[in-house]
Amino acid sequence: MSGGPKQRLQGKQIVLGVCGGIAVYKAVELLRLLTKAGAEVSVVMTANARRFVSELTFQTLSNNPVYTGMFDSVREREIGHIALAERADLFVIAPATANLIGKVACGIADDLLSTTLMAAQAPLLLVPAMNVHMWENPILQGNLKKLSDLGCHVLEPEVGALACGAEGKGKFPDPQRIFEAVETLLHERDLAGETVLVGAGPTLEKIDPVRYIGNFSSGRMGYALARAAHLRGARVILVSGPTALPPPGGVDLVAVTSADQMRKTMLDALEEATAVIMAAAVADYRVAEPYSQKLKKEGAGGLTLKLERTPDILQELSERKGERIVVGFAAESENLLENARRKLAAKNLDLVVANDVTLAGAGFGADTNIVTLLAADGSEESLPCLPKEAVAGHILDRVAAALRRRR
Ligand code: PMT
Repeated sequence: MSGGPKQRLQGKQIVLGVCGGIAVYKAVELLRLLTKAGAEVSVVMTANARRFVSELTFQTLSNNPVYTGMFDSVREREIGHIALAERADLFVIAPATANLIGKVACGIADDLLSTTLMAAQAPLLLVPAMNVHMWENPILQGNLKKLSDLGCHVLEPEVGALACGAEGKGKFPDPQRIFEAVETLLHERDLAGETVLVGAGPTLEKIDPVRYIGNFSSGRMGYALARAAHLRGARVILVSGPTALPPPGGVDLVAVTSADQMRKTMLDALEEATAVIMAAAVADYRVAEPYSQKLKKEGAGGLTLKLERTPDILQELSERKGERIVVGFAAESENLLENARRKLAAKNLDLVVANDVTLAGAGFGADTNIVTLLAADGSEESLPCLPKEAVAGHILDRVAAALRRRR
């Protein structure tokens, strides 16, 4: 389950069906994202799609022949439409026109794309894009409902300025959003039915109305965990201190600022969780009495602040853990394993993820991390420098296995 961003769709066979509409040029960007992530993409274009963008563009970017007609004897001999349908792990129709949706809903197979879809066994993702009035047409909506009831997935269009000059719903979604929907549909769902509570990012503790005590956590490690858990089928509650990261799709994000807010939010959410992963860098100290007005500089002297301890959130969570799996991190600058073993035992954790935050490529702010996983059964595994997404994969492999054992 682990792997860097380039391998995210490695070995997956995707049939990308492209219908005629101005959004065809954006399907080119989607194709690029899919192939970049390692997917093998076979493109099927309708006759109208080819009026907007040449098949050569799709052929070049997919590095595969483009399928355009039922009666193309060369393509049919190379791989017939039935074989194309059978080898697919997923069908993505983007853009999907009202016409194609209507044909699929009514079982009409009068060109290569609709005929291939008739033979499809794999899941189907429809990405409609059209004029707002076409989108609102009850016949189209009825067809989409029929297809959803049959198990097809529909990624709803966005609201905005449409190419036809109208404003409203009907806009082709951002290709990155489609890519994420594809990834979700293709991922192994070994955390389906679980609720994973993730703490991420820094907490900031007020000094006065304009200043705070904080740390260098970017939230990357926690967000990678949240995203990966969602892809593996879990419901995810992500409690995050302030970060500059976009919210991961499909995740319930609760934004907090201070350790107190994070504590309250995580304890409230604990009831729903079956696993907890605490990647947040919670401030250990806060100003005992924050100033209500902005502090003024007076003379050349310094300033002494009285600090007090913040609550240990992970400690409190694990005291109430019951049957839950609880994972903590250990951010160390010396005696990595010794300190991590102590935290594993003291906080009654199932797993601790130890990172030496002084190493290049590890810890705060980096895209990668270098960690050792220490489990309650005494096993220890050191991983090489990996992207945080891949580290998240390893951690979730352990969480999924522990949840299976507990069932
Ligand atoms: O956000 P990034 O830029 O991606 O960086 C990732 C990271 C370095 C923040 C992450 O990999 C990490 O190590 N997170 C834990 C940071 C930390 O506070 O470690 P600690 O060893 O001080 O704390 C041990 C555990 O107790 C941690 O799970 C921590 O979340 C938790 N804790 C600590 C203090 C506190 N008051 N409450 C807590 O819950």
